[in-house]
Amino acid sequence: MIDRKEIMDIVNDYDADNIKVGTVGSHSALDVFDGAVEEGFNTFAACKSGREKTYNQYFRAKRDSEGNVIRGIVDEASVYSRFDEILNSKNQQKLVDDNVLFVPNRSFTTYCGIENVENNFKVPLVGSRNLLRSEERGMDYDYYWILDKAGLPYPERVNKPEDIDELVMVKLPHAVKTLERGFFTAASYEEYLDKANNLLDRGIITQDALDNAVIEKYIIGPVFNFDMFYSPIEDEMNKLELLGIDWRFETSLDGHVRLPAPQQMTLSEHQMNPEYTVCGHNSSTLRESLLDKVFELSEKYVEATQKYYDPGIIGPFCLQTCIDKDLNFHIYDVAPRIGGGTNVHMSVGHSYGNTLWRKPMSTGRRVAFEIKRAIETDQLDKIVT
Ligand SMILES: Nc1ncnc2c1ncn2[C@@H]1O[C@H](COP(=O)(O)OP(=O)(O)O)[C@@H](O)[C@H]1O
Ligand SMILES: [Mg+2]
Repeated sequence: MIDRKEIMDIVNDYDADNIKVGTVGSHSALDVFDGAVEEGFNTFAACKSGREKTYNQYFRAKRDSEGNVIRGIVDEASVYSRFDEILNSKNQQKLVDDNVLFVPNRSFTTYCGIENVENNFKVPLVGSRNLLRSEERGMDYDYYWILDKAGLPYPERVNKPEDIDELVMVKLPHAVKTLERGFFTAASYEEYLDKANNLLDRGIITQDALDNAVIEKYIIGPVFNFDMFYSPIEDEMNKLELLGIDWRFETSLDGHVRLPAPQQMTLSEHQMNPEYTVCGHNSSTLRESLLDKVFELSEKYVEATQKYYDPGIIGPFCLQTCIDKDLNFHIYDVAPRIGGGTNVHMSVGHSYGNTLWRKPMSTGRRVAFEIKRAIETDQLDKIVT
């Protein structure tokens, strides 16, 4: 792990009047750039060839002679043949020379590799570098471990397929669609074998992935992803904020649920198992009487990260939950960084963030606003790792 002190030294040498906000062009980058521009920063996108046009053409920024943005949000985009070229020392040096603060998202950690992010990317990250690994399901000290330490509710684990006696979710990676899910559900060991064999035969999952899959009880209820923010530099008001709530569109699950049951039953074998590939997001609110609980869960998560993952969570994080029929929360995933669904409040903000800040406040804008406050109070080193 790159020593935090080393990053603090780098950031202390930054020209605080010329900070740029950077991230990889993917995932939640548009929200980050929109927020950065709104708060008066220039932006930098690290793009992959073939996926760059969104950033360097369609959302490219145009500024007037005074530097005010007239259109768009991306000031500068570098296009690499692979995302992990950002790790090349000259590319990293350019970021440091340009006073870039880098906002880590899931694409960054997945495409660059968690080891590289931890050990080789010597650019200040806004957020907690050491926590990023906790979302690699199945690793030591992963988010389940943190939830356990914090006494937070997560779906009960089923240790071996033979023990399946009610609906479960089997979590494993997709064999072909790299970085996507090969998840499936089953209500008995027989069904597990049936589905697993079918998916193995069709090359959708591998035996190795299946052997290492996490099996957990399926929570029947709606999904709420809570886009939270923790500010280490806030000293008057609460350090923990709820900015927004989102949920996802997943293919092909969302297509399945729009078919009448008899039609679902006649789907062909290759259509029968829904996949869970995220392809969009929507926004939501939560029954008001449940909000207290969300804050309680989030406070516990923050506390546990501070205790076991010094310095603990910094900035945005996302608790992904299902709520059961008795209104209990079950946290099935935690993103210790900006969530993947925050574009849903890009530019317009979100009911909760706006209510708190009395202006449009998305996660991207909140990150930029945090940077601005840190600069103004000379505390940039407190929000980077
Ligand atoms: N225990 C569970 N019960 C019901 N649905 C679940 C459960 N775990 C995950 N899901 C569903 O699967 C989707 C992806 O799960 P998640 O654990 O977030 O995967 P990833 O780590 O790939 O983000 C969620 O959006 C949710 O709809
Ligand atoms: Mg998830």
